Parts: sequence; C-alpha cells; structure tokens
Amino acid sequence: MPVNIIVGMQWGDEGKGKIVDILSEHHEIIARYQGGANAGHTVVVNGMKFVLHLIPSGILREGKVCVIGSGVVVDPQSLFAEMDQLEKGGIKIGGRLLISPRAHCILPVHKSLDKAHEARGGQRKIGTTGKGIGPSYADKTARVGIPMFFLSDEKKLESAANSLLAVKNSLLSDFYSQDKLDPATLLKEIKSFIPRLLPFVGDTRSVLADGMRDGKNILCEGAQGTMLDLDHGTYPYVTSSYTVSGGACVGLGIPPGKIDKVIGVAKAYTTRVGEGPFPTELLDGVGAKIQEEGNEFGATTGRPRRCGWFDGPVARYAVEINGIDEIALTKLDVLDVLDKLCVCTAYKVDGKTVERIRDDVSILERATPVYKEFDGWNTKTAGITEFSKLPDKAKRYIGFLQEQAGAHISIVSTGQGRESTITGIPRS
Ligand code: IMP
Repeated sequence: MPVNIIVGMQWGDEGKGKIVDILSEHHEIIARYQGGANAGHTVVVNGMKFVLHLIPSGILREGKVCVIGSGVVVDPQSLFAEMDQLEKGGIKIGGRLLISPRAHCILPVHKSLDKAHEARGGQRKIGTTGKGIGPSYADKTARVGIPMFFLSDEKKLESAANSLLAVKNSLLSDFYSQDKLDPATLLKEIKSFIPRLLPFVGDTRSVLADGMRDGKNILCEGAQGTMLDLDHGTYPYVTSSYTVSGGACVGLGIPPGKIDKVIGVAKAYTTRVGEGPFPTELLDGVGAKIQEEGNEFGATTGRPRRCGWFDGPVARYAVEINGIDEIALTKLDVLDVLDKLCVCTAYKVDGKTVERIRDDVSILERATPVYKEFDGWNTKTAGITEFSKLPDKAKRYIGFLQEQAGAHISIVSTGQGRESTITGIPRS
C-alpha cells in the first residue's frame, strides 16, 4: 500500500503534471498537498491539452479519486474554470474530487493585495503570479482566513469576511492607495460560489486514512519546486507554502512513517520564473534557444521563464531535503538542438568552492557556477520510448546528472505527450 510523493527539484515547472499523470495509472488516490492556482500543470492526453492549476492531474485518468488537501489555498473562480475545461474535454469530476474543509479560500481581496504589493516594486518585489497566494497563507497563519468549513455556517462566514475586509481595506487604501472593496459585494460573491463548491468539500483526511488502511496506492502531488519552499528555498524569492516532501504530511494529514517513496522531478536544464537568484541562468542566445525550444512560458501567467544549465548543487540539495529515491528527468528533447551543454557541479563564492546549498542562501546571489562541458548529441530524441535507443552522448549526459544529483534517474520524458516517456530505467 505505497504512499508516494512527487516533488519538484528546482524552481517549479519541472513537468510534474505529466509525471503525475503517468504514475497515477498505478495509484487509486491522487492528492495535492500545497500551493494554489499559482501552479500550472500542462498535460497532453491523446493530443488534447489540459492546463490544471488546482485539481490533481490524476483527474485525467478514469475512476481515480482526487483530493485537494488542507495545505492548499483554493480560489473558487479558478477551480470552476478548471472544472469547466475538464467537463468540456469529456472528463467527469462528480464523485471523484474532494476538497478538505480545512483548505482556505483565496478571495478577491487576496489577489488585490498580492498585485498591490508587487506593483510597489522595489527590493521586495518577488515576481509573484498575482493569484493571491501569499496574502491568503498570511491570513491563514494569522488565524483570520476563511477555511472551507466556514462556508456552511452563514453567521461565521459573515463575521469572518467582515472583520477580514475591515483590516484589509485600510491596508489597501491607506498603505497601497488602492480602492477599498465593498463588504456586501464580497459576501455576495462568496455566497454565489457556495452552491457549486460545497458538494466537493468533504473529509479528505479520513479518505486518505481509510485508503492507507485498505491498502490503496496514494500519490501525493506537489506543486512548485524545492527552491521555492517557504522555509528551504531562496527566501524571500519563494512561494508561501511547503513545497518539499515534508509538506505532503502536513498538507494532507499523512503520518511521515507511511511514506514509501519520494520521486523528484527535474528538467534536463533549469528554469525559473519571477525574481531571485539563479546561478546557472543563461542570458545569451543559448538561453533564448532553450526558452524557444522548450516553450518556456508560464502555464499560469504566460510570463517567459528564465533558462539556464542544470544545477548539480540544487539537484543534490533537493535529493537531500526531500529524501528523493528516484528521479524523473523531463524535457530531454529540448536539448536536441544544442552543440554544447554544461552542467554546474559547484559554485565559486568569494574565492571558495561551494558544492552544497547551505542555509545562507543569499550566497547564491554572488555564486559563479563551475561547469563541466558536454558535446551535444544533435539528433532527435523526441518521442523515444526506450533508454537503449537514446544517443550515447545523451546517455552520458543523463548518467552525469544522476551522479551529480545522487539518486537514480528511473524515468526520462522525451516529449509532451504521455507516450513520449522512457520508464523503468534500470540502475546501472
Ligand atoms: P506566488 O506563489 O504567486 O506567491 O509567487 C512566488 C514565487 O513563486 C514567484 O517567483 C513565482 O513566479 C513563483 N511560482 C509560483 N508558482 C509557480 C509555479 O507553479 N511554477 C514556477 N514558479 C512559480
């Protein structure tokens, strides 16, 4: 009865959606444990493209139960848009999606505050997705937020919404010089989404506990990536949730001892959206080529992603902090067009060689990568489904990434579709 976790090893956008989709075939329950509609998981099934933000990618497999855990912040508008997209694509959601009553709501005021904070710019600009993630988690932590279970208690809801808006309105108008939000309009809006939302709210923790007791396979789906973790990422340039594997235990109510395997997902290169240190960033034509070949534009905001070489210290850190047992390497085919490739093995910081990400992450702002260079394979790997069919130079590159990360690469993705995947790669 394995409980497995999928976790991003870099700064998000590693292609977790596709890997969750593939692995969900062998899991009965797929459960999202943190983040919100800031995530964007693109999955292509039978040539049809789905972009999921909140609902686990497992929804694309018939009969799978999908859970949104207490660690997630839910924007009902975004959720409904996603439901509409899935229903249009012939995917049934009724009876297959369950949201924790403890998951907090993202309200329009959270999105306004997120955008107002970013608009001020300056040093504390994070480059957020503008989806209200930070303000919503801040309210949850300050114990003034609105969890799903308030929605079925009108009195509680009204009192919570009114007191929340009283404080937030003074912040919006006095500090950010923005228009205040009308409490009556806010309540009307919240009440308008209750009828569609509440039927999906239920006791997710018991479903998971019963699933574990009954020997069901459970896949915990992480969003964003290790380097965006609130505690363990490149603070303050992080998201506001726990993206590391430990977040799955907290955000779903699963005891740590029940976890069987942690699968890390890493791109064959690195990308980052938003501000913050990125030692292997390529600001030249090679970066632009990777961006174009990899279609590196945000699934949520459409923003161009910064592109760079694979970062060994980041991969080692991700393996260490998440307890990664196996790695799924994605977007190998994007590198088919490059003559030369580099992999960062360490950094030079203040004249010293640093091989490990340490808690003083600000050193990354002045770190210069130490690279090992590889010849490109310059042949098409796109669509290859057997490891033996990969060019030797690509195999060598993958072998080096594995060595750098310190965990076995068991899956390699060679294209967007489900079918463009090499699975079951034996340990060498
Ligand atoms: P927030 O999560 O919207 O508050 O944004 C905080 C930081 O995390 C910003 O740098 C975002 O670009 C980044 N971020 C949030 N979600 C994702 C994601 O799904 N992929 C990549 N970056 C993300």
